[in-house]
Amino acid sequence: MRTDIDQLLTDMTLAEKLGQLTMAASSYAVTGPVIAGDSTQAIKDGTIGNLLNMIGAGPTHEMQRLAVEESRMRIPLLIGLDVIHGHRTLFPIPLAEASVFDAAMWELTAREAAKETAADGLALTFAPMLDVSRDPRWGRTAEGPGEDPWLCTQIARAKVRGFQGGNLASEDAVAACAKHFCAYGPVTAGREYASVDISERTLREVHLPAFVAAVDAGVASMMPAFTDLAGIPMTAHRPLLNDYLRGKLGFDGVLISDYNAIGELLKHGVAADLVDAAALALNAGVDIDMMSDAYRRGLPIALERGLVRMEQIDASVRRVLQLKERLGLFDDPYRRGARRETAEALEKRRRLARNVAARSLVLLKNRNDTLPLAASVPRLCVLGPLADAQAEMCGPWAAAGYEGPHVTVLGGLQNALPNTKIRYTAGVAIADGDRGGIAHAVDLCEGADAVVLCLGEAHNMSGEAASRAYPELPGQQGALAEAVFEKTCALKIPLIVILFSGRPLIVPWLDEKADALIAAWFLGSEAGNAIADVLIGRASPSGRTAITWPRALGQVPIFFGERPSGRPASSKDYFTSKFLDVPNEPLYPFGHGLTYGRCTYANLRAEPASVTENDTITVRVDVTNSGARAADETVFLFTRDPVASVARPLLELKGFARAMVPAAATQTVELTLKASELRFLGPDLAQVFEPGTVEILVGPCADRAQLLSTSVRLQA
Ligand code: NOJ
Repeated sequence: MRTDIDQLLTDMTLAEKLGQLTMAASSYAVTGPVIAGDSTQAIKDGTIGNLLNMIGAGPTHEMQRLAVEESRMRIPLLIGLDVIHGHRTLFPIPLAEASVFDAAMWELTAREAAKETAADGLALTFAPMLDVSRDPRWGRTAEGPGEDPWLCTQIARAKVRGFQGGNLASEDAVAACAKHFCAYGPVTAGREYASVDISERTLREVHLPAFVAAVDAGVASMMPAFTDLAGIPMTAHRPLLNDYLRGKLGFDGVLISDYNAIGELLKHGVAADLVDAAALALNAGVDIDMMSDAYRRGLPIALERGLVRMEQIDASVRRVLQLKERLGLFDDPYRRGARRETAEALEKRRRLARNVAARSLVLLKNRNDTLPLAASVPRLCVLGPLADAQAEMCGPWAAAGYEGPHVTVLGGLQNALPNTKIRYTAGVAIADGDRGGIAHAVDLCEGADAVVLCLGEAHNMSGEAASRAYPELPGQQGALAEAVFEKTCALKIPLIVILFSGRPLIVPWLDEKADALIAAWFLGSEAGNAIADVLIGRASPSGRTAITWPRALGQVPIFFGERPSGRPASSKDYFTSKFLDVPNEPLYPFGHGLTYGRCTYANLRAEPASVTENDTITVRVDVTNSGARAADETVFLFTRDPVASVARPLLELKGFARAMVPAAATQTVELTLKASELRFLGPDLAQVFEPGTVEILVGPCADRAQLLSTSVRLQA
């Protein structure tokens, strides 16, 4: 049955309308103070229409009951939660999952997360987070898809499809909320919530494309960033929210402010009081006020002062009601959470979590095929503060639906190797504490066939409000690593390091010393089992880092899509673009990640040799695996436009493909590229397709030396 939204709008009081534009935290506040007061009475009064941070079919249905049975207008609530990488079953953090390079998998994990979210009575998730990050100091790098704008568009589409499913009204679909619009990643010095000031070109080329893709995929809602852009806070950014997002892109979904962001317009220095702030946000196009209580308190006065018009309020209320309608909430507010998920469904999801975790970890280094370990390895020594740290396995944004047990590396190895004698000690704490336990850790290495050393960050060292000026191994972990390294050298046994983090860490020392090094990010509920699967070769490592790993903090920001210098680095010439004290090259380039195979690329060809804007280019390359094991290979397609009216980046990612290449075999991998993808923003920021030669580069990562190159001619 269709809801008569016009009639509702006619019948609602101003207070009830403002209730629909208000979102209050129930139960607990994750990121700020609870200021909205007693939501229960307000729901009955119809003056709170939306909630966040509540889970469970019981509590959510009870709140819906208050809204639809006890409030005058009987309008159901919209209840949302941050489901950033799974809900009850936790998948790898987004930065980790980006390394899977498989759109079907990105979609599937969102689909499964949506099912768990909806089963908890929720109809909205504040995800996906689509902020491009090129600065590992910024803690929220963990929550996003990495450094590349094109990759972000692919993830945006997959995630929106996954969360929302085919029909937003179905019992297992939730509204997605693309965030944070936009350009939150380039905060000054990687410092959380700091000011942003970037060029219009960088905004359009790097930070907007993912949101354009999300709108194109039909995203139901969006959240403006906390930050400002050249002096205009995004929550009050009329040109970008109202004119661009709504006007140009035609986004007709709901804009939900970030937590207390309307109130923070005062601290930004653009509003004198809450009335001003509320008017600025509404005029910019923000529909729902999350936790500032600015709309309820400020908009009635703003109306009186003529700062806003009733039609604007009505337009926002209409959008909120339309979303509730699309979600099927008017039809049946209890639909989500009505059915318990079966044990089989949960078990299947847990297997998916293990599979995606194994595919998300990145094998950074594997000297002399240290890995995989023989499944018959008699004695292992497992060390480090992250080796048996259950609560750390899931990373940031894992608290809400938290449902253990989360499998640690120690647990995973014990499961996988029942006949192996495993000795374990943490050695040191993650961040604080002394070096007292190092000697014992070193002693435990005696008699082992290999040492697995688990190092890294605690789960809360990345995510929101978790910028780090030294994104390195915290505490005494470096000292532990050095002592263990010396011991393993003396014993002539391999040292395998598993590194947990929500960002690339600056670890050139580990790269040099460890025999094998794995970026385990934060892999979720099945972390330990997945890591063990890869360590013993039951799963084939295939993850490719979606973000460049710097070798020194001074290289930051570092990313492969840099534009060329007029004086490119050269050892022969002094006056070139380089550092005196560190190479320009990163520790690991974007796309880096080893397999247990050994692939080489040959015979790159692109057809046709000459194309116009509407043509499609077919690119083929032969991939030979000369290793002893199959390789799950990711093949990247980059382009380079060497002469254009605007200097183009040194490499631009335009595609990827996967190939399972058996040992001692060759496979031809095919990728397609629409010539229209070679358009760019010309000098006046309008799209152009310029005739000329464009390089097509194909290979295993964004390191130019590892790429094969051919070219195509573009014709007008
Ligand atoms: C603040 C964060 O910036 C945002 O990403 C999140 O969705 C809200 N808090 C709600 O928890």
